[in-house]
Amino acid sequence: EENMRSLADKNGLLFGVAVRSSDLFDPVASKLIEDNFNIVVTENIMKLENLRPNPRFWNWNPVDDFVEAATEKGMKLRGHTFIWHNQLPAFARNIRTREEGIKVIEDTITQVLTRYKGKFYEYDVCNEIIDDETGGLRKTVWLDTIGPDYADIAFRIAKETDPSVKLILNDYSNEYAGTIKGDGFYNFVKGMVERGVPIDGVGFQLHLSTDYPLNEQALRKNIHRFYDLGLTVSFTEIDVRVKMPMTPQKEKLQKEIYEKLLRIALEEKVSCFVMWGYTDANSWVPGTFPGYGSAHPFDRQLKPKELYISMGKIL
Ligand code: XIL
Repeated sequence: EENMRSLADKNGLLFGVAVRSSDLFDPVASKLIEDNFNIVVTENIMKLENLRPNPRFWNWNPVDDFVEAATEKGMKLRGHTFIWHNQLPAFARNIRTREEGIKVIEDTITQVLTRYKGKFYEYDVCNEIIDDETGGLRKTVWLDTIGPDYADIAFRIAKETDPSVKLILNDYSNEYAGTIKGDGFYNFVKGMVERGVPIDGVGFQLHLSTDYPLNEQALRKNIHRFYDLGLTVSFTEIDVRVKMPMTPQKEKLQKEIYEKLLRIALEEKVSCFVMWGYTDANSWVPGTFPGYGSAHPFDRQLKPKELYISMGKIL
């Protein structure tokens, strides 16, 4: 049977989705995920506020279950994420010194990657560390307390703990060459490579909208310059939101963007094509972008949209 998952397998593409842990234990949702995707990422349960709400309490159970369920179904795992400025527990927001900060990073990464050694295909070691306006490092508790080498430190610890997991720097609005953020992100990564930091690849989140056309040329150019550094590229959090109400015109634009992204992923041999949610029934978009919605490949009834059927023809 030719489901999306086997088509992705045939193309050598890691094709997947962010999953709420309840999904993997709901019979309908878990069947859909298993039939369609060969890789999954935890939407929230590995973020620090959930995984480690205080320095001595680790919420392992949901993650253990998730890792086990995905592994049983033969799906690969992306890890998300160690170092971020959002969804931080109070103790991390209140770090005051470089030593304290390094200790939090070190404990977090070694605990997780020791427990799940060999289980993750790739991991977003740091997430969204580049500033939108300047293209330099974002002002965060990590930068304030540790200094500009915090990412280098995190990648080095991760590589030492589990050399088998591919270490990724992930961000949004970093997909185009020739933009302040895109170039700032690239320059930071190039610096890491020059400093000998063990980074394996980059992630473009690709939270897109039908308000703007996809700049295919700037995206391809960007992918190539990371390949020239010897790194991989993954599409890590794809969604294409639409300003409500939906119209046939917006539906067409949305379909074209999803199709183009998939074509580019295949042609450029991108490692992962991961969408940030599969159904509008369960979406982070309306909460974060008021007035927007319908961003995902399945509708609220879990029926595949036209755009998804047409992605199947591309695979
Ligand atoms: C989002 C989740 O989807 C929401 O459920 C949560 O409330 C906030 O975070 N970029 C990221 C993701 O790297 O971790 C975010 O996920 C979406 C934006």
